[in-house]
Amino acid sequence: MAVKAINGIPLPLRRKSPSHKKSIVSQSLTSYFGLLVGVVAFLWALFSFVQDYPIGFSHHASGLVDWDHRRLAVRRAFEESWKAYAEHAWGNDRYHPASQKGSQMSPSGLGWIIVDSLDTMMVMNLTEPLAEARKWLHRSLSYDQDQDVNTFETTIRMLGGLLSAHYLSSHLPFVSSRRDAVYLTKAIDLADRLLAAYESRSGIPYASIHLSRKKGIVSHADGGASSTAEASTVQLEMKYLSHLTNNDTYWRKAETVMSILDANRAKDGLVPIFVHPDTGKFTTSEIRLGSRGDSYYEYLIKQYLQTSGDERIYYTMWQEALVGIQKHLITTTKNSQLRFVAELPQGIGGPLSPKMDHLVCFLPGSIALGATGGYTLTKARSLPDWSPEKEQEIQLARDLMKTCWGMYAVTATGLAPEIAWFNAEKKDLQPEPGSRQRSSAKDSLSSWKNDYIVKPLDAHNLQRPGTVESLFMMWRITEDSLYREWGWKMFGSFEKHTKLGQGKGYSSLDDVNQIPPPARDSMESFWLAETLKYMYLLFSPSDYLPLEDIVFNTEAHVLPRFKPKWRTGWERSHN
Ligand SMILES: *[C@@H]1O[C@H](CO)[C@@H](O)[C@H](O)[C@H]1NC(C)=O
Ligand SMILES: *[C@@H]1O[C@H](CO)[C@@H](O)[C@H](O)[C@H]1NC(C)=O
Repeated sequence: MAVKAINGIPLPLRRKSPSHKKSIVSQSLTSYFGLLVGVVAFLWALFSFVQDYPIGFSHHASGLVDWDHRRLAVRRAFEESWKAYAEHAWGNDRYHPASQKGSQMSPSGLGWIIVDSLDTMMVMNLTEPLAEARKWLHRSLSYDQDQDVNTFETTIRMLGGLLSAHYLSSHLPFVSSRRDAVYLTKAIDLADRLLAAYESRSGIPYASIHLSRKKGIVSHADGGASSTAEASTVQLEMKYLSHLTNNDTYWRKAETVMSILDANRAKDGLVPIFVHPDTGKFTTSEIRLGSRGDSYYEYLIKQYLQTSGDERIYYTMWQEALVGIQKHLITTTKNSQLRFVAELPQGIGGPLSPKMDHLVCFLPGSIALGATGGYTLTKARSLPDWSPEKEQEIQLARDLMKTCWGMYAVTATGLAPEIAWFNAEKKDLQPEPGSRQRSSAKDSLSSWKNDYIVKPLDAHNLQRPGTVESLFMMWRITEDSLYREWGWKMFGSFEKHTKLGQGKGYSSLDDVNQIPPPARDSMESFWLAETLKYMYLLFSPSDYLPLEDIVFNTEAHVLPRFKPKWRTGWERSHN
């Protein structure tokens, strides 16, 4: 890095030496001394620049980096996490790495960790642990249990994990299980239980189901309302299952949800975060892109991509929402003019709250994905439907990516808190549509630190994937190695602060601003399913699982794009 940077900048000591006569020897001594002083001064300047300037410097590094080496480091982190789980909590739904114990969410376990991890092991070619996991699934896992489960979590983690394992087991060259029926058989059994959730008066799924009784259960909280994101984040899984089984039952149940939500005619495509399964109506006006809102938007663009662009309706809805987000939610910070996504606790027209969940960090990647459809930016720009609007979307994705990276960069551990608050530019927080950074904005780490506020109650880190997921998408699409470098720094912080000694594995943290940070004694299943998978893919060659052939569900499970066997079963009642 330093070498290239030095070559690129004219060093100050190259100016002409003074004209008065000197002996050859003293002249060259003087210039050697000058050279030395210059180099030291330059390196010092470069060092302070790098210290203070969290962006940009790594552009120079890319050519010299061994990405395979980094990719293997991520694989090792997975292996160590898995080994700890297998030794201390095998077959359990949760793993507590500090106390080295497992615990169950149902009497005999539902395989939350094992099923969620299957496809990561396939992607990383971890054949032996995969064989063990498959054996457990085949012999020990039954969904016929006297147990309530959350409809959404079960769909995205379990059904999604099984479907991804099914897909990859016949599409990754080195996964040995040819035409292995075990994953699909389990998926069908589980989905038939999940269908009970859709037996509500409106068709909006109940928050939970009872597995063995195959019965939907209304939410015990929130006045019986279901979370909007949960109801609208089951479609990729149910539709792919229909595609595989040639049975449109799952497809129709899931797509009906979209028509019911859309019939509410949410202003500018921004949906409130609760919807009632009896009425199909929103029960609040609160809007946010974080918890309970996030993956509604993610699945709009991904549903469009999953069926190969055949279902235009979801692209229209995505575009409408994206315009709404820019009009009502995007605003900037005071010191560095970082753009961020605020919340509307009282809906459109109410005040903005300068708060952004780490969960929102799926958004930059999804925006870039929506703009190019998964192609590289270079290729997408050469296609006839490229437009200035799409160029702007890429800029928005870049800006939000930077803000998400900042959540890591400003903390003591280099790891993001669950929620960040911001010093917003204006008191009234009116967003300025399309506002760009002022040239006077200070884009340095110390200035960033004055923009982010981490409150004690929000300071925990749950090993969440959103930011690395977006970094992966941004790298694949823009081909800017800056995003890979940020990912590598992030991985370094996870290694340094979340890895517990003595083979215990990796833990969530209680406080990202405390050194050493207190461990939370939980290793989330999405650490294995998502965070490490995206990290691994970020450092993998870009033709490995090409972005234009697949979609990732919201739990990073890999599903193929396909041509739909059925037409979209609904139309918008308005435009
Ligand atoms: C995958 O792993 C197996 C053995 O564990 C090995 O034989 C094979 O070469 C690996 N394949 C790739 C593509 O790395
Ligand atoms: C499609 O799947 C549903 C749910 O399992 C089942 O009730 C129905 O009989 C299936 N239809 C066909 C034609 O197999």
